[in-house]
Amino acid sequence: MDHSSDFLVIGTGIAGLSFALRAAEHGTVTVLTKGQPIESNTAWAQGGISAVLPEELRAPGDSCESHIADTIDAGAGLCDSQVVEDIIRGGAETIEELITYGVEFDKASHEGFSLGKEGGHSERRILHCKDTTGLSIAKALIERAEAHPNITLLSEHFAIDLVTTGRLGVVTDNRVIGAYALDEVTNQVITFRSDRVVLATGGCGKVYLYTTNPDSSTGDGVAMAWRAGASITNMEFVQFHPTCFYNPAATGAEARSFLVSEAVRGEGGILINAKGVEFTKEHDPRGSLAPRDIVARAIDHEIKKTGAPCVYLDVTHKPKGFMKERFPHIYNTLLSFGLDCETQPIPVVPAAHYQCGGVLTDVNGKSSIRGLFAIGEVACTGLHGANRLASNSLLEASVVARNALSEMMRLYPPNKPTPEAPPIPQWEHGDTNDPDELVIIYHNWDELRRLMWDYVSIIRTDKRLQRAAFRVANLRQEVREFYWGHRVTADILELRNLVAVSALIIDCAVRRKESRGIHYTLDYPKKDDRFLTPMELRRF
Ligand code: FAD
Ligand code: SIN
Repeated sequence: MDHSSDFLVIGTGIAGLSFALRAAEHGTVTVLTKGQPIESNTAWAQGGISAVLPEELRAPGDSCESHIADTIDAGAGLCDSQVVEDIIRGGAETIEELITYGVEFDKASHEGFSLGKEGGHSERRILHCKDTTGLSIAKALIERAEAHPNITLLSEHFAIDLVTTGRLGVVTDNRVIGAYALDEVTNQVITFRSDRVVLATGGCGKVYLYTTNPDSSTGDGVAMAWRAGASITNMEFVQFHPTCFYNPAATGAEARSFLVSEAVRGEGGILINAKGVEFTKEHDPRGSLAPRDIVARAIDHEIKKTGAPCVYLDVTHKPKGFMKERFPHIYNTLLSFGLDCETQPIPVVPAAHYQCGGVLTDVNGKSSIRGLFAIGEVACTGLHGANRLASNSLLEASVVARNALSEMMRLYPPNKPTPEAPPIPQWEHGDTNDPDELVIIYHNWDELRRLMWDYVSIIRTDKRLQRAAFRVANLRQEVREFYWGHRVTADILELRNLVAVSALIIDCAVRRKESRGIHYTLDYPKKDDRFLTPMELRRF
């Protein structure tokens, strides 16, 4: 079965839907998402979106220059300063746009917005909707997209692979011309044709055993782009959030992944060890509010030093009712797990949170393959460098979505015919459908996520990386055989992508023989400026 549109967007987070809503003013847009549209990192975002507002609305003393400097400081030498400048300066317009879509950011008691603070920010500049900012944004965008006559939003459509003319044997004109996707309800694979394809598939937190990410974050976009031949970069920079709720009794993925927002520290929450000592001060004078890489490493160090399973985020000194009012989602969720954070410190551990690397793009989301754009967490524009500043990711996704549409209209306007491409062949299924074999998938999922956690997380060494590389190569071979022999299912597709992305993370980590930002290795504990250029992986 074939389906054709002017624009094909894969993913329904802030990146994909911000793009789709704009593109729909210029042509037909098909938006695919696996599962339901609300299942995204976007919907789980808590702290908010950073932006320097017009002068009368921003915190006294704040400026774009200050936000730029904080972003570059967190990025540890690897940010592209022009990209940082372009994206930060787009903040006020993004907030305006989100408000027109119906997002209601919290107001302070006076006329202005209530502005939060997070690690690494020198000023209050985070707009939020209590502690469920992402959910408010996601709901507003989904509602708009579903109502737009030019947008066809297809849930439960799992994009499998991109189709390029190069892969179909054209040697003179390599460009993207569509994608295959699995209809998760009928189990049919459908061909989606378009000369303008946007990957907005989010990150890859599920590569790790412990993550703050929802189940949708399996690195599908990076894996698809890699298989299609796009350049990938900076995958060694996986950000670990310092404060994931430590809940050993939890069973469901959601309970194990529950984030306690950095904004809680921005409002005075303090990290302490079991003896009540504020240990982060030994690592950075900014203590609990130092950038994430520093705080996550400080916690890791503390846990290893003391043998304790976790540290604590203490807000018991805040006035009674404060947490319930400012962070109701966190307060109530913790309460549902039996913890009253107004009277008890919250046990926390670091967990994989954000993919700073990804598909290499410019500030307009343009990848190395013609017609293929990547926006949001799947992409690496150069904004985050070696470590993302908190709340810069919703901002980046929205600004780059806007840029991407302008760039596409300039380069490939739908009303300008493109050279005819060869017909896209129908998908060919592997035949076997043996449920007994499914144990291989579940076993390999677990093995992969555990080995990535043990060998490729906050503290790395050459030896651990080599071990991981060896095991991932074996898993890759097994998964490849399974993939080609069986009918595709969402589980096997995700495992195939997780394995591919794990290999990319390891490859990048092995090459970076220094410690910078979130990549820390005991074998090369210092920065080495010979590694100042981002490393690009290409598949020939
Ligand atoms: P996502 O929102 O993850 O959307 C990706 C979409 O692609 C999903 O709909 C997914 O189902 C779909 N998809 C994936 N693969 C496929 C496929 N193969 N086929 C079809 N569809 C597919 N950032 C901030 O700036 N501020 C915050 O306060 C903040 N808080 C966070 C809290 C949590 C708990 C988490 C996990 C992240 C947080 N982040 C925050 C990061 C931020 O939420 C994400 O980086 C951002 O939302 C990514 O948006 P996106 O549109 O790129 O991807
Ligand atoms: C948080 O609320 O702590 C997450 C913010 C982010 O990841 O940017």
